Amino acid sequence: MSAEDFESREIDATRPSAARMYHYYLSGEAVFDVDKVFGERVFQAIPYLDVMAHHNREFLQRATKFMVAQGIRQFLDIGSGLPTVGNTHEVAGALDPASRVVYVDNDLEAVNRAHELLTEQHALDHTAIIEADLRLPDVILDHPDTRRLIDFDEPIGLLIVSVWPFVPDSDRPAELMARLRDALPTGSYVAMSHASMTEAPEELIARMAALADLYRETSDPATMRSREQFASFYEGFELVEPGIVYAADWRPEQPGDPQDPARPCNFAAVGYKG
Ligand SMILES: C[S@@+](CC[C@H](N)C(=O)[O-])C[C@H]1O[C@@H](n2cnc3c(N)ncnc32)[C@H](O)[C@@H]1O
Repeated sequence: MSAEDFESREIDATRPSAARMYHYYLSGEAVFDVDKVFGERVFQAIPYLDVMAHHNREFLQRATKFMVAQGIRQFLDIGSGLPTVGNTHEVAGALDPASRVVYVDNDLEAVNRAHELLTEQHALDHTAIIEADLRLPDVILDHPDTRRLIDFDEPIGLLIVSVWPFVPDSDRPAELMARLRDALPTGSYVAMSHASMTEAPEELIARMAALADLYRETSDPATMRSREQFASFYEGFELVEPGIVYAADWRPEQPGDPQDPARPCNFAAVGYKG
């Protein structure tokens, strides 16, 4: 994809998007009627998809807290989604109000809602939302708001949480990840998660396959990847303990339920650029 190819995606009220659907699973709020109708079908395929979404979101929050504890004060959150409870700037800002966050999404509804949220002077000084695409990393890295808020001489916390599924292999995700990794200063961290159809009970794998089929109808078809494929995104990083695990199992603050049917199928990890 070249920079010339990027066109702002108009808000399409006739077709669900990954951003709006994820917001629906997390909050129960459907932005458009079509999202609610599609959501009912999704919940038929996986009745506990809302729990899965919460596991994913809570991983993002714990990973953010972990990075703050490691001294990170600047974050690039790519594929940040519609703002919801516990956004990255709120999680990091609660620990250190000086934290800075650049949000990036290619969904206009997500971008517009973030603009509506980030109006206070403190937020304007410490956060930004960029309408851009993960498939054009240089546009993100060179954006004036990125350069205003992120110091590329200091370690950065990069978040790409549950976004790679929406980048097919034909867009060469390994090269995109390498470009981002190379731009990160030593001492930076990256947190990612990825839906999968491996290492789960057969019944859940069938449900995930049905979910992937449904997402073909959205503006964001999804690609599931195996643990090995997910691991390849961490080339050039050292995996922080406990390595690649299900999102709910990444440094949980409370013991998880091993019988929780929503636990498997979403791998998560944090990498360190030493
Ligand atoms: C499942 S949501 C995850 C939101 C958030 N990262 C989280 O984990 O809570 C995926 C988000 O990635 C965004 N997205 C998908 N493909 C993208 C791309 N190529 N560039 C930027 N954002 C993208 C979607 O619009 C959506 O907001």
